[in-house]
Amino acid sequence: MTSRSDAVVLIGPMGAGKTSIGKKAARALGVPFFDTDAAVVRDHGPIEELFAAHGEAHFRALERAAVQEGLASGGIVSLGGGAVLHAETRADLGHHRVVLLTVAPRVVAGRVRDSNRPLLQGDDAIERWTAIFEERRPVYEELADVTFDTSSGPIQDIVDALVAWV
Ligand code: S3P
Repeated sequence: MTSRSDAVVLIGPMGAGKTSIGKKAARALGVPFFDTDAAVVRDHGPIEELFAAHGEAHFRALERAAVQEGLASGGIVSLGGGAVLHAETRADLGHHRVVLLTVAPRVVAGRVRDSNRPLLQGDDAIERWTAIFEERRPVYEELADVTFDTSSGPIQDIVDALVAWV
């Protein structure tokens, strides 16, 4: 990693591997890793419960605070897939290096069923994932400095490519 104090921010849809790739890359680079979902859970409890009790808008406000904390860490920051919906976050990302991780729908099915993803509960999870990704794709692409597709190959290849890019 260079001596710049800006963060390397991983954006992209649920199941693209932002957390697992980010953790490994941070370890390889010897920099802190920050995950906005983990920070929200740490401070406020399970994401599923936050959505159920208070709604998505409430979650987005908590997530925005986590994004600010993460960006200040100066390491590798994994953003929840919808964090870029916040206009101030999009503006903040202009000061950081932004990596888009993408994944094909056929691959995502095995990756996304857990309680951190209330938007994808139910039988039509992959249809919903695809609709959400297509809606957000222009935003992701506009923000990204570089894009890696994580659909095939060993995860370590993506980690190595990311570390080399940083
Ligand atoms: C969301 C993505 C999730 C989590 C929440 C909402 C989204 O994070 O923040 O379930 O709107 O795309 P991951 O992208 O880490 O799965």
